[in-house]
Amino acid sequence: MTQASAPGKIILFGEHAVVYGRPALAVPVTQVHADVDVTDVSRRGIWINAPDVDLHAELNTLPSDHPLASVIHNFLFLSRVSPFPNLEINIASTIPVASGLGSGAAVTVALLRALSSHLQFPMTDEDVNAFTYEIEKLHHGTPSGIDNTVITFAKPVFFVKGNPMETLGVGTALTLIIGDTGISAPTKESVNDVRKLWEADKPKWESVFDRVGRIALEARYAIERGKKKELGKLTNQNHALLQEMTVSSPELDRLVSAACEAGALGAKMSGGGRGGNMIALVEAENIAPVVEALKSSGARNTIVSVLN
Ligand code: MEV
Repeated sequence: MTQASAPGKIILFGEHAVVYGRPALAVPVTQVHADVDVTDVSRRGIWINAPDVDLHAELNTLPSDHPLASVIHNFLFLSRVSPFPNLEINIASTIPVASGLGSGAAVTVALLRALSSHLQFPMTDEDVNAFTYEIEKLHHGTPSGIDNTVITFAKPVFFVKGNPMETLGVGTALTLIIGDTGISAPTKESVNDVRKLWEADKPKWESVFDRVGRIALEARYAIERGKKKELGKLTNQNHALLQEMTVSSPELDRLVSAACEAGALGAKMSGGGRGGNMIALVEAENIAPVVEALKSSGARNTIVSVLN
């Protein structure tokens, strides 16, 4: 049996504007992960079990654009494995779906790594990243590539679409609390809605994206130099611009305000928005009151993550 796993991710700064070439920062979230194991079996076929999504099926009975089937078909095509192997593939994930934590990209990365190692078709991180980006494009239209990059390399990244991955240096440990609204919201829809706004008034939205890009750049320096208070302010400013882009929601805004009132240095929604997760930057001694405030304001789940 061959096993592989991949972490979740959270965007710290720059979501949506990153699709338009502005920089963004993201970090892996190892508390949640996608896990895949692959075993040889004697019965014919490639049998997929993904109990989280209630899927138990042979590959060829799935539509070819099914997210899992498309990864496996594309892998078999690329690797030219012959004859076709008889396999059982078990897929499990603790990453909530459509919540801004990169569940789709993490399942693809874990599945690719398990297949590549089981079928002895070596893939470098760059190969896995490029392949996962192609799969993301099939399902999400115009992804920037930040999700597949942070999940493949499992490092904090400073990301600009089309540029090689840059690792983000961290000057002083940062405590982040991730709060889940429990509302699933497909990234594709919020990305499409921002595109409609942009198409209707490009000069206005280009200037909003420029402001987000500047915030992401300043945040990079603040993270590198350990300037937490400045980072908190930048977090709030980024949230206000995401509200202007219409991708926040009453539930996200409630969690963001609750975190700030409970003493967070700053808070913002994260990822595609309209639901999913938000993040709060806190001093280590303030974890408990902020977690409490998030829970009593509707957070379904909270994750405390230390970036260092
Ligand atoms: C999704 O995790 C982040 C977005 O910026 C979309 C993308 O970068 O592809 C909303």
